Amino acid sequence: MDNKILVGPFRQIITMDEVPLKGPLHDNQLHIIESAWILIQDGKMISIDSYNKLKNKVVDGKDEIQQMNGDHVAMPGMIDPHTHICYAGSRSNDYALRLSGMSYLEIAARGGGIWSTVTNTRNASDETLYLNTHTRASSLLNDGVTTAEVKSGYALNVEDELRMLEVIKRINDSNEIDLVSTCLAAHTLPKDFQGSAKQYLEFLIKNLLPEVVKRKLSSRADIYIEKNAFSADEGLFYLKEAKNLGFDAIVHADQFTTGGSEVAVEVGAVSADHLEVTSDREIALLARSDVIPVSLPGASIGLGVSFAPVRKILDAGCSLAVASDWNPGSAPMGDILVQACMLGVYEHLTMAETLASITYRAAAALRLRDRGILKKGNQADIVAFPVSDYRDIVYYQGKMKPDIIMKKGKLIHKP
Ligand code: NIG
Ligand code: FE
Repeated sequence: MDNKILVGPFRQIITMDEVPLKGPLHDNQLHIIESAWILIQDGKMISIDSYNKLKNKVVDGKDEIQQMNGDHVAMPGMIDPHTHICYAGSRSNDYALRLSGMSYLEIAARGGGIWSTVTNTRNASDETLYLNTHTRASSLLNDGVTTAEVKSGYALNVEDELRMLEVIKRINDSNEIDLVSTCLAAHTLPKDFQGSAKQYLEFLIKNLLPEVVKRKLSSRADIYIEKNAFSADEGLFYLKEAKNLGFDAIVHADQFTTGGSEVAVEVGAVSADHLEVTSDREIALLARSDVIPVSLPGASIGLGVSFAPVRKILDAGCSLAVASDWNPGSAPMGDILVQACMLGVYEHLTMAETLASITYRAAAALRLRDRGILKKGNQADIVAFPVSDYRDIVYYQGKMKPDIIMKKGKLIHKP
C-alpha cells in the first residue's frame, strides 16, 4: 500500500454523490460538504471529512499533507466524453469560408471538411500524430479534464485507423490523463473506397473491427448518421454488427437532419451525441431509453448554429452530458467548461445541471463507474477552483480554471 495523502482544506466539496442520473436538477440537490479535507491512498479516495477527524489517520514523516493556500472549492475532475483530438493539419481555411457564407456541408462537398483532415492525418508521421495529440491531451488535463474520450475517424482505411487507435493508446499509457478510445471509422465514406457506403461498412465489419478487438484498441464503435455520411438504415446495420462483435454503440445523431437518435434508441446505444435538430418526437424516444444524450455546444459555436434543445431533453426525463467535440472542423476551441457554461446560459440550465453534465453524467456516457463522483472508493480525480462558493465556477462562464488538478491522487503541475 502507498503512503496516504491528505489534501485540503476545501471551503466546499461538490461531491455529485446521490445526484440522479436522469432528469432536471435543482441546485439544492447538490451534495455539498463544507470545510473538509480528502484522504487518498493508492490513487483512490478513502475518506472526506474534517481535518480534526482525518489528521489522526496520517502519520508524521510518512504520509503527505497537501495544504491549499486560500479558499478553494473542489469537485470531481471533469470528463469530456466526445473529442476528435487525434488529427493533423488545420481547417482555418474552412472556418474562413464559413464566415464568408458557405455552409459546413457545402465546404465538405468542395473537398474541404472531414476529407481534408483525413488526407493530412494519413500523411502525418506517427511522431507528428503522437505529438499533436499528446499536446491536446495535456491541454485538456491542464484545464481540469482528467478523463477524455478520443475518436479515430480521420484515417478511414484499416491501416491508418489502427494507427490512430495505437497513438491514442500510447498517449493513454504515457500521459496522466485517462483516454477512452472510440473507433469512428464510419465517419464518412472515404473518397478512395471502391464501392457503396453499405459495402464500406461491410468492409469495416470484416476487416477492421475484429482487428480492433484482437489488439484491444477500443470497445466502442461510433457512426455519423447524416446526409453526407451514412443513412439511418446503414447505421442500424453497422451498429448491430458492431454490438455482435462486443462493441458499445455510439451515434453522431441529429446534427443537421434527424434519424440518428432513433437508431441509437433502437440499438441500445450508450450515447447519442450532437442532437442540434432533435425534435419532440426524438426526445420522447430518448426519454424512454437508457441512451445518454450528449450535447456538443462547441460544434454549435464553431458552426454558428443553434444549441441542442437540452432544456427540453432534461425536462422530458433524459440524462444530459456535455462534451467539447474538440475537432479541427466544427469545434476547434476544445474548452468544455466554457462551452457547458455557454450552453447553460442559452438553454437555462441550473448550475447543478451544468456541473453534473461534465462530471457524473459525463462518466455515465463513457460507462465509467469509478469517477465523476467524489466519494470513498472512487478514483481520486479532483479539481479545485480558487473560489469560496461553487456558483462562481459557472458564474465566471468557464474563464476561471481550476488551479489544483489531481489525477489518481497525483498533483498535476501546470507548465
Ligand atoms: O462531431 N459531425 C461529424 N464529426 C465531427 C466533425 C468532424 C470534422 O468536421 O472534422 C463532429 O462535429
Ligand atoms: Fe464528433
